[in-house]
Formats: sequence, structure tokens, C-alpha cells
Amino acid sequence: MVSGGGTNLQAILDAVDAGTITNAEIAVVISNNPGAYALERAKKHGVEALCISPKDYESREAFNEAFLAKVDEYHLDLIVLAGFLVKIPAAMIEKYEHKIINIHPSLIPSFCGQGFYGLHVHEAALAYGVKLSGATVHFVSAECDGGPIIAQRAVPVLPGDTPETLQKRIMEQAEWKLLPEAVRLFCEGRLRVEGRTVIIEQE
Ligand code: GAR
Repeated sequence: MVSGGGTNLQAILDAVDAGTITNAEIAVVISNNPGAYALERAKKHGVEALCISPKDYESREAFNEAFLAKVDEYHLDLIVLAGFLVKIPAAMIEKYEHKIINIHPSLIPSFCGQGFYGLHVHEAALAYGVKLSGATVHFVSAECDGGPIIAQRAVPVLPGDTPETLQKRIMEQAEWKLLPEAVRLFCEGRLRVEGRTVIIEQE
């Protein structure tokens, strides 16, 4: 699931092509934003791409219902939120427990939760003055950005950084590596959740 440029989606597509991620087939790419370049990336790759937006529904409830019904059609084993900016309905989180993973562009629990998405995350990190930020991949739970952590990688904040330069460094050095790696581990059946902790089974 995507909302924007889709560079994290691209990292996954590339890892499947390279054979780094095995035992996986990308069934569909879903965006809430019809103009998302991520949809083009999917189509270029021969992957079905579709848009479903809360804006096209009378109420949030109606959207949530339609969204879950659409997702169910694909009988997915794993849902990857690769820069998806719509709140996942509670019913979907419950139904797909430990089957939805999200990438967040900070070291959770810093700079996460309601309102922290995209460039806002990096603005907040710079405003706070942290010297390290990074990215986190986690399972999605009912608490926003609060589910069990699968992987994290720290990235330095450098003098003169803007939200844009920090975002780029975190994408290049952390996100595009962590997300395909987490998908690989999941597809190899190597992630086990015990309470808040994710245990990575050795090969
Ligand atoms: C990424 O930086 C991702 O971590 C962030 O949105 C960007 C999407 O970029 N996600 C969030 O902020 C979720 N709270 P992309 O479309 O190029 O992958």
C-alpha cells in the first residue's frame, strides 16, 4: 500500500527481481492517491495497481468497509505499508494481525504517532536537535506506530541538514535496505512475535 513516490515499493520490486526476496509474489499495489507515482512503478513492473480513496466514500465507515473487502479479495499473506498515509481500519488490523508491516522514517518511539508522516517526521527531528535519526520497520497494531519492532537502523543528522536532505539520507541508508530485508524475513517464515518482541529465527 502506497500514497506517494513509491521508492520503498521500488526497493521491494528490485529485491524480488534480484532474487533477494524469494517465496513472494506481489499481488497488488493499492494507493489512496490516484496521482501516486508508485502506481506507475507497479504498472511498469506488470503488477496490478489500483486506487481506493476515502474521498470517494460518504463516510469513513463506508470507506473502511470497502477497503477491507477489496483487500480480502486478494487473499494476502502479507500487507506492506510502503509510505501509506491512510489510517488502517481497526477491523483490518485485527483480521491481519502480525501480517501488516509498516516503514516509519524515524527511530520509534521518537517522532512517531498521529501527525508524524513524511517530511513532518524529519522537520520534528531537526527541530528537536537530535544527532541520530533513522528508520523502523514494525508490525502494525491498534496503537499508531506502536506495534512490535522488526528492524531499525540509525542514520546521522548532519550540520546544515534540511528535512529534505535528512529524508533522502534516511531513505538511502536505512529505508530501502530495511524494508526489503523485513519482507524477506517474513516471506522466509523467520519472524516470530512474542508480546512486544519480534524474534528473528536463524536460518
Ligand atoms: C517514506 O519515507 C516512508 O518512511 C514514509 O513516507 C515515505 C514514503 O516514500 N512513511 C511514513 O511517514 C509513515 N508514517 P516513498 O513513497 O518514496 O516510499
